[in-house]
Amino acid sequence: MIASRAGRAIDVVAVSARDRGRDRGLDLTGIDWHDDAMEIAGRDDVDVVAELIGGSEGIAKNLVETALSAKIGVVTANKALLAHHGTALARMAEGGGVALGYEAAVAGGIPIIKSMREGLAGNNVSRVYGILNGTCNYILTTMRETGRSFDDVLSEAQELGYAEADPSFDVDGVDAAHKLAILAAIAFGREVDFDNLHIEGIRHVTALDIAFSEELGFRIKLLGIAEQAGEGVHQRIHPAMVSLSVPISQVEGVFNAVAAEGDSVGNTLSVGRGAGAGPTASAVIADIIDIGAGRTAPVFATPVGDLKPARTESISSRAGRYYLRLMVIDKPGVLAGVTKIFSEESVSVEAILQRGRDPGEVVPVVLVTHDTDDAAMQRSLKRIGAMEQVVEEPRMIRIEDF
Ligand SMILES: NC(=O)c1ccc[n+]([C@@H]2O[C@H](COP(=O)([O-])OP(=O)(O)OC[C@H]3O[C@@H](n4cnc5c(N)ncnc54)[C@H](OP(=O)(O)O)[C@@H]3O)[C@@H](O)[C@H]2O)c1
Repeated sequence: MIASRAGRAIDVVAVSARDRGRDRGLDLTGIDWHDDAMEIAGRDDVDVVAELIGGSEGIAKNLVETALSAKIGVVTANKALLAHHGTALARMAEGGGVALGYEAAVAGGIPIIKSMREGLAGNNVSRVYGILNGTCNYILTTMRETGRSFDDVLSEAQELGYAEADPSFDVDGVDAAHKLAILAAIAFGREVDFDNLHIEGIRHVTALDIAFSEELGFRIKLLGIAEQAGEGVHQRIHPAMVSLSVPISQVEGVFNAVAAEGDSVGNTLSVGRGAGAGPTASAVIADIIDIGAGRTAPVFATPVGDLKPARTESISSRAGRYYLRLMVIDKPGVLAGVTKIFSEESVSVEAILQRGRDPGEVVPVVLVTHDTDDAAMQRSLKRIGAMEQVVEEPRMIRIEDF
């Protein structure tokens, strides 16, 4: 099937990994083994190298650069590499007339690169956003379904193999940020800009906030959002409250989803598995078939020489609604103090939620604001957090009204 779709035979001629002795459930008879992966890029019978090692530096980067300079096509699942060096690698690939496929690097099995780069090529994209990390989505879904804490659900996810032993790349939002930087380059025709992305993970999301969120008609998702902002672009990863009526709010568990908004097409949403052997292989093989069939497109949709310089605006200029949860000592005057600060910072409050009363005890108070900007919200948070009656750091979650 693969040969037929590529229009030519695809032969695996050489392979490398760290441990030659490991049983991979595959018969590698007749395939050359290289202890040094770099040797593969030096063979003259290789047309395409699939780099599935990972990491933005070191062997993965060397291998990809060496292959591209030898005019060998590259297929990679390596989002970290593309987020950090995407523009330079695109220059090498396009300069040498050689393919660089990376479908597997963003949202695993969802063919979002092809969809954005080719299917939506006739659109001015105003926004692309998505659930770009299955581990975080699984944790948030399970917290909501069971009412358990982040730490508890993370440990279970590690036992089940849904989270790495070192989960920081996932739960702190870095992995999602790598993918968003790539999507933003395609969507807005700008050079890849990982360094200026705003990144917040999900460690501070609590079961209490998830419960309040549901009560208010929202679901909390770790979203990556890239959107036009004045002359530049906002690129940000953070927990967001999304109305239950917005389709992406219903994407649960390990699933990923990417929504794109274009001037001709309107709204699109793609959903599927973002990780795992099968979904990743699905994307890698699609790239290999494209190269076999001679189908190429500029790496980031716009020819690399025509990409505009990156211009990522600060999150301070993000405008929207905010959810704020305070733990306060229940006594007269607390809310008046909070609303005074808000009014001085020109933040207007849409709703206040306080469950029961318990004079003298600590109770949660939830406030939802009207549209305001991030800078005003940050200033308010600092001042509210310093109030004597506010006994925990205030929790703020941005509301996204898609
Ligand atoms: N896992 C997913 O679901 C998924 C999804 C999308 C994208 N990706 C991306 O795919 C890449 C790999 O991730 P992974 O989860 O598959 O990681 P992994 O399980 O650690 O696999 C890495 C592979 O690279 C090999 N390797 C490591 N160092 C090497 C070296 N110096 N020379 C040759 N081979 C070397 C390893 O060999 P041994 O087997 O001998 O250790 C292993 O087979 C990353 O860029 C990741 O972001 C992964």
